[in-house]
Amino acid sequence: MKLRTIENIDVRGKFVLLRDDFNVQIVDGKITDGFRIEQSMPTINALRAAGAKIAICAHLGRPKGTRNMEYSLAPVAEYMNVPLIADCLDKDFMPSMKEGDVVLLENVRFYEGEEKNDPAFAQKLASGYDIFVNDAFAVSHRAHASTVGVAEILPSYAGKLLASEIENLSNVMENPARPLLSIVAGSKVSTKIGVLRALAKLSDTLIIGGALGTTFNYAQGHKVGNSLFEADQRDTALEILEYAKEQNCQVLLPLDKGVAKEFKRDATRINRAVADMEDDDVIIDAGAETTARNLAAIDAAATVIWNGTVGMAEWAPVWSQGSFAIADEIAKRTKEGKLVSIVGGGDTVAALEVSGTKADMTYVSTGGGAFLEFIEGRVLPGIAILEDK
Ligand code: 3PG
Repeated sequence: MKLRTIENIDVRGKFVLLRDDFNVQIVDGKITDGFRIEQSMPTINALRAAGAKIAICAHLGRPKGTRNMEYSLAPVAEYMNVPLIADCLDKDFMPSMKEGDVVLLENVRFYEGEEKNDPAFAQKLASGYDIFVNDAFAVSHRAHASTVGVAEILPSYAGKLLASEIENLSNVMENPARPLLSIVAGSKVSTKIGVLRALAKLSDTLIIGGALGTTFNYAQGHKVGNSLFEADQRDTALEILEYAKEQNCQVLLPLDKGVAKEFKRDATRINRAVADMEDDDVIIDAGAETTARNLAAIDAAATVIWNGTVGMAEWAPVWSQGSFAIADEIAKRTKEGKLVSIVGGGDTVAALEVSGTKADMTYVSTGGGAFLEFIEGRVLPGIAILEDK
């Protein structure tokens, strides 16, 4: 897909409405992971250098159309050291803006019209601006006023981050170096059916891990103790296995697990084969044999697509073993030039951050849901509207 990009447009002195995804984790008023903000900086800096007057539009959480200050973007404005405009529809700040100035507009989801893509709201949001730039790949799967509505009103372009997401993800899907290994984990089969089918079609090998893997183990008749899994997804899991077989994709399911008797960070870890699971076992991580098998699969691959941690990676060091071992091996092989590695999803990227492997990956996406939908081959409405036809 060819996009209209900001490279060849003249923005000097123009008011640019820039959509960024700053939906970041904030604890006690402080940003705990600035990845999405950092990745947005090349576009902001390029627009500033070109003399644009930039108002950044963003959302935080799901305030559902109410002005709930729990979801204020104030911590983001502080992190970026830019003024926060308390109402995203306010235009009073515009006359005093100079070329290269940047402001951040308060959470666009404080208005109901945003998620409804209400044309009247989009019109109010767009008014006063000359150009719309979308750099918010991570929310481009949503047809909202600030992703689609304003793009229908203003001359609209893709920012550098959005363009680079599309380029990197399209490359790996259209022309991957083979063998291609996909690793999909996380908690819910129901949210990953589409991506599991798409990756079963695309990949030579598919590792299914985490609670997702537990549901597959259950579907194959294993006991799963007191663990998180989805009994009602049994048939879906079996269908996906059948589909993968038809597509000549080898599926690797968990062989053993790191379990405890309680779902607690400081619980004692026991390694348990999937066939020996006890009724009061709680699965919290991948087991040792599964991890060794996963690493061998990574070593045999030329491309890896990874989404979802295979355990409670946030409970390091005891329960992050399976996920960090994957991260370390992918990092090592990528650094050696033997692997192209593409990683996406908030939890997975957080695991890369904590394990110190993020910089070693070929490409780390800022998308969560958007990453999955793109890989699934779905049309993302916020991107389709920027297509250069
Ligand atoms: C994300 O964090 O994945 C995006 O910002 C989209 O958020 P949403 O799922 O609340 O629309």
